[in-house]
Amino acid sequence: MQDAPDVDKLTEEEAKAELAHLAKVLLKANLEYHAGDDQRLNDAEYDELKRRNTAIEARFAYLKRADSPSDVVGAVPSGRFGKVTHAQRMMSLGNAFDAGEIHDFDDRIRKYLGLGSDAPLAYTAEPKIDGLSLSLRYEAGTLVQAATRGDGAVGENVTANARMITDIPKNLDDAPEILEVRGEVYMSHAHFEALNVRQSEAGAKTFANPRNAAAGSLRQLDAEITRARPLAFFAYAWGEVSAPLANTQFGAVERLAALGFSTNPLTARCDGPADLLAHYADIEQRRASLGYDIDGVVYKVDDLDLQRRLGYRSTTPRWAIAHKFPAELAWTRLEAIDITVGRTGALSPVARLSPVTVGGVVVSNATLHNEDYIAGRGGDGGDIRDGKDIRVGDWVQVYRAGDVIPKIADVDLSKRPESAVSFEFPVICPECGSDAIREEGDAVRRCSGGMICPAQAMEKLKHFVSRGAFDIEGLGAKQVEMFYRDDLLPIHTPADIFTLQARDNENLSKLAKRDGWGATSAGNLFAAIEERRTVPLARLIFALGIRHVGEVAASDLARHFGSWQAFVDAVDAAGPAAARHLQADAAEAEERRIAAREGRRARIKPARDAVWDGTSEAARAAWDDLIGIDGIGATVAVSLVTAFQQRAERASIDRLIAELAVEDAAARDTRGSPVAGKTVVFTGTLEKMTRAEAKARAESLGAKVSGSVSARTDILIAGPGAGSKADKAAELGVQTMDEDAWLALIGGT
Ligand code: IVH
Repeated sequence: MQDAPDVDKLTEEEAKAELAHLAKVLLKANLEYHAGDDQRLNDAEYDELKRRNTAIEARFAYLKRADSPSDVVGAVPSGRFGKVTHAQRMMSLGNAFDAGEIHDFDDRIRKYLGLGSDAPLAYTAEPKIDGLSLSLRYEAGTLVQAATRGDGAVGENVTANARMITDIPKNLDDAPEILEVRGEVYMSHAHFEALNVRQSEAGAKTFANPRNAAAGSLRQLDAEITRARPLAFFAYAWGEVSAPLANTQFGAVERLAALGFSTNPLTARCDGPADLLAHYADIEQRRASLGYDIDGVVYKVDDLDLQRRLGYRSTTPRWAIAHKFPAELAWTRLEAIDITVGRTGALSPVARLSPVTVGGVVVSNATLHNEDYIAGRGGDGGDIRDGKDIRVGDWVQVYRAGDVIPKIADVDLSKRPESAVSFEFPVICPECGSDAIREEGDAVRRCSGGMICPAQAMEKLKHFVSRGAFDIEGLGAKQVEMFYRDDLLPIHTPADIFTLQARDNENLSKLAKRDGWGATSAGNLFAAIEERRTVPLARLIFALGIRHVGEVAASDLARHFGSWQAFVDAVDAAGPAAARHLQADAAEAEERRIAAREGRRARIKPARDAVWDGTSEAARAAWDDLIGIDGIGATVAVSLVTAFQQRAERASIDRLIAELAVEDAAARDTRGSPVAGKTVVFTGTLEKMTRAEAKARAESLGAKVSGSVSARTDILIAGPGAGSKADKAAELGVQTMDEDAWLALIGGT
């Protein structure tokens, strides 16, 4: 390396040759690194070569190669691909499966916008491409970055590979200064089949379906491999743009086409649900002859101004929905029923099947839901499958809808073997021997072992390190199992992860000396753990794995409370009220029973109120606040309180918190918002928007929307007909304004 001539002295010929050489060497180094090959360049050598490559590119910019190593950001230190934080989150879509749900979708939007059922409301309808989404960033008309969706917030940098896709323009004429184009990368049926032929001839693994083939081809470290596997791209959406593309969804897609992107020819503008459903039927009928996989039709509100008003729930737009095609079916034999124990203790029956292809995917496991489902009973106690139970040895019908876990739809009794016996659902936990209890009204039987059940503890840990949670590089499900069983350096609870390095040091760095480990891999793991010691509040709440608290609820809670301490205090304060809530449910059920027996109407409110009498104001207020959060209901609230009140669980959480630095949740991006952190109340009639829209907009600006006026209220927005709330506000000296003044304040129309 010392012998290399000065970059300044290189001729164009020499520079070109050296860039080609460096691309090859650095690529090989990446591959060897990831194969764990010891012959690879050391990090310093690697960095030196990379610097030289950058220096040559700086001097001869026009010689920069499509597969330039400088586009493979951070490949060596931080894993396969560099990470990209999306300027705007990449959202997913809500699903619908039948016409009724499409009418509901239209109704919801009209209600939200305050549109009557006769007011015109246009949509677009277009195929839902079954590939993987990609975001392409253009600056001054040049493609500067391509990123996968990842978890929606952070994706992988696949720029070098995206440059190999002919459908993706490298330069645009007449584009906004900043333009992020989003769409789907997919592989056509013809290319998929040809690829599998080539793969099997070469003795390499074949792909189950075009989607996997597309994903595997895009996420190749060697961009040349991507080039050899023809991928295609349809543009259908956008992220950050410095100037709007159009006023309508349809117009924006037309603009993307004019800029040189492939857009789907079956994109149509539709007038309402009936029209959407007609277009759906048309697309479904053409499905088999399209030459690429689609798994439904996406409907979007056409007017971009209305899209903006409708906005987003946590991860999905209110203005769009995916109408999925019906599930694919196949028959096969049920070989066994296994019981797995999940992180909340649920005993879940899993069907082990004789492998069968369902819609292009080989299926050998399916969920059987719960014991009633196996027995042929539905959630309401009535029959399902005409009461037919499911037995080991039966012929069963398997179906898949979208990406979801396959399910069992039906049983063929004519093929039932003589020897088949009805399935006996276990009443003790197969993992720890504790009683497995089924509570009244619950379809699921649960292990009562809590933290002493190894399956629960291990599943909790796996959830804790999973992608939407702590996402610790090098600590996946497999490693968690290993550490859980380790005697010298065990991980039994989340806090143990963060004390791992200290304990290892006491052990004189035993980890580095073990089979399958070395100083580097142990060091990498400790570094990855350190990197996660600072954690955003929403991720932390989700990671705890509390029943009913998924990613959406976790981020709603984080946004509402802002800090860990505020969150914990609120849950603790709501504790006594949660108990009352459950007693009130029981009292209501009892009252209904008695009333039915006595042949009179049930007096529900008095029955519930009697239970609540004597609950402290503070507990009630905390409870109301908790269940008043958009998306959080009594079920989630009870579950939170229960988890925090369980002693072992609480101790485990407290020990974890002591190890972490929790980042407060920014109440969305509300910088510059005049109402961030304010508590506001709407009352009376709103004329410019519906209540739901007013609430969502206020919340998106960082305000808290409350249902009642108190000393903590900052602003009351009073429309015509405002009554007692306006009086109370006046009494308390709360600032009061009308709808127009409010809109002027938040800068809206
Ligand atoms: S729109 C904010 N349109 O489906 C809405 N998505 O299930 C952004 N997809 O992540 C998505 N075809 O990868 C949209 N015509 C289409 C689509 C489409 C396929 C994918 C996309 C998205 C996923 C959601």
